[in-house]
Amino acid sequence: MANKFQAPRGTRDLLPADMATFRALEENGRRLTALYGYAPIETPIFEDSGVFERGVGEVTDIVEKELFRVRSPGGDADRWALRPEPTAGIARAYVEHGMQTLPQPVKLTMFGPMFRYDRPQAGRYRQFWQFDVEAIGDPGPAIDAEIIELAWRFISEAGVDNLELHLNSIGDAQCRPAYITDLVEFFGPYVANLPPVDRNRIEKNPLRVLDSKSPGIVALLKSAPQIGEYLCTACRAHFDGLVQHLDAVGVPVTPAPLLVRGIDYYTRTAFEFYQRGAQGQQSALGGGGRYDGLIELFGAKPTPGIGFGLGVDRIATLATKAATAKETASAHPVAIVVGADPGATAARLKLATELRAAGVAASADLAPRTLSRQLERAAREGAHFAVVVGDELDQGEVQLRDLEAGTQHPTKVTDLARELQRAHGSHRHG
Ligand code: HAM
Repeated sequence: MANKFQAPRGTRDLLPADMATFRALEENGRRLTALYGYAPIETPIFEDSGVFERGVGEVTDIVEKELFRVRSPGGDADRWALRPEPTAGIARAYVEHGMQTLPQPVKLTMFGPMFRYDRPQAGRYRQFWQFDVEAIGDPGPAIDAEIIELAWRFISEAGVDNLELHLNSIGDAQCRPAYITDLVEFFGPYVANLPPVDRNRIEKNPLRVLDSKSPGIVALLKSAPQIGEYLCTACRAHFDGLVQHLDAVGVPVTPAPLLVRGIDYYTRTAFEFYQRGAQGQQSALGGGGRYDGLIELFGAKPTPGIGFGLGVDRIATLATKAATAKETASAHPVAIVVGADPGATAARLKLATELRAAGVAASADLAPRTLSRQLERAAREGAHFAVVVGDELDQGEVQLRDLEAGTQHPTKVTDLARELQRAHGSHRHG
């Protein structure tokens, strides 16, 4: 008899070619989180349904419509559920294992499958993978920028170009209630004529209406009040601080005054990543935000937190072959440190050691030979860049030569690691 079985609707088999990309992404996630000091955690793929009802929120699509309930033999049909996202389970584990007594913030990361009983379509699956990062116990805003920059770097290094960070603050328990009151009041005169889904949102979880795709709502939202006008002093200062810190680490911000996200635990910072031009729910490459009230919901003292989840399936679709192949390829150094003074090996070694400490695959030419011989060797080793040490080192500068492009410019030693990573990352996009 012919085999009629197929992978369940909304799931797919990751064949070896897909796995090469997934593995490369996972490995890069591991490498980056280790560099940034995030430790791996794995929570069960199913939990008490209450973990998600309480954590994600009962009036969210994820819990109301998309939770995969699991029936145990002879058991209660609603007791367990497959995890739709990792943050609630991680918060449960943080409290269960007394992680509040550890030095804060506790920095955790996870990579694994999630399950949502959503209507399958391109980029939307019932089993999908997330790369998740959480920092619990720091009120920010500096850590918010650190985490966002890590996500930005991960997606960029996958080879996704034209990346945008959409950023908003959704306020907190101080300022959000007044906003919600005004939002509901604004929609009051129109409610009777709205589609049932939007009417329901306004009644049960009004912020969700900001995500609505109904043309009528989209038009109304143009003149609706915006949360940004309601932020209290503390939330405003937090948001301004975050924008400053993002500027300091070189992540450009696209303000997104309507961004609210579909999960109840968020406070203040809310963000999503998109490829420019691609809009809509299915095109978010990832998202996250602050959840200063979540840990408390699991019975511990109030503890702030922030994190993100990136959609690995979606990023894998956009990842360039070149980028993922480079990740798995052998250890060509990104940069070789060379110098005009053949004998100045200590200066070259010191610089290479500092670059490696900053996470750049770098080596130094430690042979006392001429600069041109050192450069020849750097090219032969397949290095992308040569860092040329000369007299300007006394002023804290070196020359950065792109061996592939044949260009060269002076760079401050203090900017070198970041510049190499950025240049090498963007080079991989090509
Ligand atoms: P989320 O926005 O629900 O956030 O999911 C994060 C990302 O997972 C989405 O931006 C998308 O790329 C991907 N994703 C979600 N659903 C699907 C699906 N059905 N098929 C394919 N990809 C999907 C969270 O899950 C939060 N836990 C993020 C977070 C962590 N916030 C704080 N910490």
